[in-house]
Amino acid sequence: MRLQNKIAVITGGAAGIGLATTELFLKEGATVIIWDIDPSGEATAVRLRNDGYTVRFQAVSVADKLQVNNAAAEVIKEFGRIDILINNAGITKDKTLLKMEQDDWDKVLSVNLTGVFNCTQVVAQQMKQQNYGRIVSASSNVGLRGNYGQTNYVATKSAIIGMTKVWALELGRFGITANCIAPGFIETQMTNAIPEEVKQKLTPMIPAGHWGKPIDIAYGYLYLASDEAAYVNGICLTIDGGSAR
Ligand SMILES: NC(=O)c1ccc[n+]([C@@H]2O[C@H](COP(=O)([O-])OP(=O)(O)OC[C@H]3O[C@@H](n4cnc5c(N)ncnc54)[C@H](O)[C@@H]3O)[C@@H](O)[C@H]2O)c1
Repeated sequence: MRLQNKIAVITGGAAGIGLATTELFLKEGATVIIWDIDPSGEATAVRLRNDGYTVRFQAVSVADKLQVNNAAAEVIKEFGRIDILINNAGITKDKTLLKMEQDDWDKVLSVNLTGVFNCTQVVAQQMKQQNYGRIVSASSNVGLRGNYGQTNYVATKSAIIGMTKVWALELGRFGITANCIAPGFIETQMTNAIPEEVKQKLTPMIPAGHWGKPIDIAYGYLYLASDEAAYVNGICLTIDGGSAR
């Protein structure tokens, strides 16, 4: 039980990597609050409460600062604190630079970049008062090496690595750590959108020989959110089967 009595907010916790993280954190003793725009998060929360866990779903778009503020206030009212923030929500709208529309750029930045800023700024205020916090954000290995057709997405994922280093510097003295994870190819609804023939071409580039599962990333979030990682601050942990070269 590595997260006993911890209150964890997981954005994008209704699906994919976020859902695997929700389930793992609950097993490790945390109370989990899912912030997601996918209404299926409510049924997931009901199912997990039936299993005896303490879990809430709040319909929140991370891109909307007011919704984030209100949701955080509700969590603090009910549970008194927020120990862990997992900035996991993210979207793609892939096109090459010359074909990318302004709306593709704006939407991806509003969720992946402004959303991470919104949640961190709001939750870090509470963490400062507690003199304790763990912030872990989803970057990507494409944020380290670039990727064809992903100007908007890569811009956000590189920025998350930079913001994480800033937050480590600014928040460290308040007992808060800020780290991020750079996943490689993970099987989720996000990567389901990639055509099968492209997926088959990508697989040989992975030294591990196969795509990752959501739980592979959830274990990384768990480590960086745990007290065992108390002295880990400002890093980007790559979890990609060795493919980020
Ligand atoms: N799957 C991969 O291969 C991969 C690789 C590198 C990084 N990542 C990153 O990991 C994170 C999780 O990815 P995933 O593959 O599980 O994606 P996913 O599409 O399976 O799940 C993303 C979740 O975020 C939610 N979401 C979307 N917009 C939101 C908003 N405005 N507010 C709140 N929630 C919102 C979705 O409803 C969904 O539940 C993302 O940040 C993604 O960029 C994924």
